[in-house]
Amino acid sequence: METLFSGIQPSGIPTIGNYIGALKQFRDVQEDYDCFFCIVDQHAITVPQDRLKLRKQTRQLAAIYLASGIDPEKSTLFIQSEVPAHVQASWMLTTISSIGELERMTQFKDKAQKQTEGIPAGLLTYPPLMAADIVIYNTNIVPVGEDQKQHMELTRNLVERFNSRYNDILVKPEIRMPKVGGRVMSLQDPTRKMSKSDDNQKNFISLLDEPRLAAKKIKSTVTDSDGIIKFDRENKPGISNLLSIYAGLTDKTIDELEAQYKDSNYGTFKGDLAEVVENFLTDFQEKYESFYNSEELDDILDLGRDKAQKASFKTLKKMERAMGLGRKRK
Ligand code: AMP
Ligand code: TRP
Repeated sequence: METLFSGIQPSGIPTIGNYIGALKQFRDVQEDYDCFFCIVDQHAITVPQDRLKLRKQTRQLAAIYLASGIDPEKSTLFIQSEVPAHVQASWMLTTISSIGELERMTQFKDKAQKQTEGIPAGLLTYPPLMAADIVIYNTNIVPVGEDQKQHMELTRNLVERFNSRYNDILVKPEIRMPKVGGRVMSLQDPTRKMSKSDDNQKNFISLLDEPRLAAKKIKSTVTDSDGIIKFDRENKPGISNLLSIYAGLTDKTIDELEAQYKDSNYGTFKGDLAEVVENFLTDFQEKYESFYNSEELDDILDLGRDKAQKASFKTLKKMERAMGLGRKRK
């Protein structure tokens, strides 16, 4: 069975964009791959975090993964900082990364710009850590949204470089992008990505938003004025985004939705979607609460940590040996 790895940062509560673009896909692939789902808290600290908030969000994210349908019997769910191999491998990959290629990362440029007290070096060396997350499990497939494409290409380059300089040890991972909803956009400005760290609460729907409030956010989204419900990202970004969300939260395709709402106005369409979102969140949060408050959650994370440690050890050691680290017994 091939291996799949993905990570989400515990920096804020995931949005329905994260759900549609990532979490939902995770649930569906568990049957077909040996899956590792990682809460990447070491990535989160590349920008300043409040310690108590970070710890709470880490637990919340674990419960969110489980509420999204991750089954700990089938998959490995764990916290990055509890498995030291990530940082150990990351250091090796950092030494073969060039400052120039790291500086070219769009996410680095964006996040660096927002720092007021100097740019943390970890923001720059973040991609080799992401590459390490992936390679230590001999990962074949990484399902991520469009925004992570550049980091994935860099990961593939680092794998090639490592393999050609040292031994052919690392597996080169493939990126898998979701078909629909790869990029859920902001509700008030549909030309920007929906982000959980947006300053304006009206721009996103968090998975823990009060369901009625979320429904209101849908009803007050920004859309064009031509009144036709049709998917056209360029000319109708608002309606296209709502169609992606609708399709992402139901079993309906965009084509089916266009046909269903052919003779409807935006009010009806938004009202229906608001109800879809409200019902989805009510159901989701019920599952979430029962995990968040359980001891079972800690048992699941302990088990995940142990499984991840075991799974990553071999490749880590191979990498160290290939680079000449440590010693060989006489
Ligand atoms: P992040 O919130 O940046 O840690 O992203 C976690 C996962 O969700 C990654 O796989 C992202 O590509 C995906 N993701 C983040 N924001 C969106 C969005 N607006 N639409 C679709 N996928 C997203
Ligand atoms: N960098 C990713 C993000 O910000 C999170 C991440 C860290 C990740 N390590 C990963 C995603 C490995 C996929 C695979 O969204």
